[in-house]
Amino acid sequence: MPVLTHWGPRIHASDHDLVEYAGTSVRTGIGGVSDVPYEPGILPEHSQGWGGLPGIRAHRAGAAWSPRLVAATVTLDGETLAEGGVVQRQGGLVSIAATDKWAGIGVTLEIDLTATGLLRTRVSVRNESDAHGHLEIVGVNPALRLPGDAREILDFSGRWATEKIPQRHPVVFGTHTRGSRRGRTGLDATTVVAIGTPGFDALAGRVWLCHVGIGGNHEHAVERSDGHLAFRGGELLLPGEVRLASGESYVSPWVYGSFGVGLDAAAARYHGFLRERSRSSRRPRPVTLNVWEAVYFDHDFDTLAELATRAAGLGVERFVLDDGWFLGRRDDTAGLGDWSPDPVAWPDGLGPLAEHVRGLGMEFGLWVEPEMINEDSDLARAHPDWILKARGELPPRFRYQQVLDLTNPEAFAHILGVLDGLVTDHGVAYLKWDHNRDLIDAGHPATGAPAVHAQTLALYGLIDELRQRHPALEIESCASGGGRVDLGILERTDRVHTSDNHDPLDRARMLRWTGLLVPPEMLGSHVASAVSSVTGRTSDLHTRCAIAFLGHFGIEWDIRELEDAEAAVLSRWISAYQEHRELISTGRVVADGDFDPDAPALRGVVAADGSEAIYTIMTPPLSADSRHRVRLPGLLAEARYRVEAARPDSLGPWWLSPHWLNKTTGLDSEAEVPSYSGSLLREAGLDLLTSLPERALVLRLVRVDAST
Ligand code: GLA
Repeated sequence: MPVLTHWGPRIHASDHDLVEYAGTSVRTGIGGVSDVPYEPGILPEHSQGWGGLPGIRAHRAGAAWSPRLVAATVTLDGETLAEGGVVQRQGGLVSIAATDKWAGIGVTLEIDLTATGLLRTRVSVRNESDAHGHLEIVGVNPALRLPGDAREILDFSGRWATEKIPQRHPVVFGTHTRGSRRGRTGLDATTVVAIGTPGFDALAGRVWLCHVGIGGNHEHAVERSDGHLAFRGGELLLPGEVRLASGESYVSPWVYGSFGVGLDAAAARYHGFLRERSRSSRRPRPVTLNVWEAVYFDHDFDTLAELATRAAGLGVERFVLDDGWFLGRRDDTAGLGDWSPDPVAWPDGLGPLAEHVRGLGMEFGLWVEPEMINEDSDLARAHPDWILKARGELPPRFRYQQVLDLTNPEAFAHILGVLDGLVTDHGVAYLKWDHNRDLIDAGHPATGAPAVHAQTLALYGLIDELRQRHPALEIESCASGGGRVDLGILERTDRVHTSDNHDPLDRARMLRWTGLLVPPEMLGSHVASAVSSVTGRTSDLHTRCAIAFLGHFGIEWDIRELEDAEAAVLSRWISAYQEHRELISTGRVVADGDFDPDAPALRGVVAADGSEAIYTIMTPPLSADSRHRVRLPGLLAEARYRVEAARPDSLGPWWLSPHWLNKTTGLDSEAEVPSYSGSLLREAGLDLLTSLPERALVLRLVRVDAST
């Protein structure tokens, strides 16, 4: 079975060298190790002497629990490889078919090195025994082996409205595991785990960035034992959850890994992967108004029509009607499941609003939470047996809601029909697809047997079918904010709701860290009210706009309150976004200052050909330093760049601005707009005055020398 001998910087070696090298790490004959040489591979086997977590854990009523697999065929991009042959390729999909005849288990292991250099693997396990009785899958956790100098971990914690708090710590012996038994990725999810050489940062150090591509129960783990270090990822299966009858298979989620020098190089491979697959990233990302923080549950046609009219006046291109529009939904205690317009709030239905929105030249979007059901709903009253539960009584409520059993074909067909009807009848271009509770005690209602695995696959089937029926429909993945951000959902949706917290200070962190997996144009990024509804902090409009800029830009604010001057500022930021969104959607993400609390935090995107770049820079919290050098990563050393910036009021008076910045804004009328060499900007940097804390600035750099 395959062993990952090297995963890291590209190496150049002859076929002969590679064959020799593959055998060099096998050891035997020292105390405490099996006499039979064994190098743990992608699926380590207990039966071969491996004492760590096996790659496949399964049993047949307590027997056949320690598989020993023999590879039968190996293919590369569909072509069978001869035994003993050597192939060197830039990428490709290797598929290994293996069996354990004695245990009656068949395995297909796929190892894919994608065009963007992302490594991913998944495993299919088949019950090949004719014997009566099931093969129960306990867990499938491939091992992506890492070199021993990767001695530091960066992973993330969080909670509602506080997603993506970084934590750094050494790799120690044992296993560091980040699991979720929430049936969704989780607000506390790490999303990715970075393992690297100590001190790695955005730009430096060897980094391996790993991820498990499923939103159901799952785990990310880093396992270290004697001479061994590996990322272990997989689905967390509940007791008895996957029991295969003869001929049936279980397919694990893809487990991903990306190597790079610096976090951003590793993240770029994920961005490339998603950009290749996304149906929508090639369309300009429409500036969005979401009305949640403007009206909450307080819906009526006049208010929402006025919001739409104002939004269109500012340059908004997509209007999203959030929660509160459907039957009985006057607050969050009732209504989920009854997906028809509430006759009290919407006596004429949603048609007039949808037409008004389209008449203003905007797309119409709608909030739904299809996997959920309130006990206080007509649907729950008609079908109490459509609610997941593990025992006689219902699971504890979260936000007054329960989970609709999508594994029940009737419930699935019902909700698919409802969504299809809404999209068709109202010309819905965009669904904000929410998921506001954990799947706790989520069992099949008739038997109580665990249902998270099947529910997750049913959800994917539901979205896939809906997208097939409506190829232009875009979907946003939301789960009380950023509670469902993973490649399982992102392969079939167009963006994520990064958080319910729009405070730019927190948002800068969340965009940065969620952005290790998700490219900027798929990160919902909204400008909200001056006083944050979540943190109570106040921030000025320029700072809010500048932080939201490197994302999928939108507004979530009662824009009826805007003074004319504020509306003009917001409108200018919207046009600036529209002008630069192509770069934001295609550029390479760079950052700096992530781990120095006294440094300005920088995020940027640089065009693939180095011809232009945009950076958002935020001054640090109050510190003893009144200035700080900011380097602009990603630029071409040999090129020359003009530096442009609008010096917003939020940065303070001009005498608190550095000389170069005043030159860019025409304050210094004698001066020419400055230009500098890429090398100088990248390696030496420009001074930023940091007297005013936590203010943001957007810089644009354009290559001015004739490129060859
Ligand atoms: C969740 C979402 C919010 C909003 C509300 C509506 O909390 O994260 O953005 O849609 O639900 O109830």
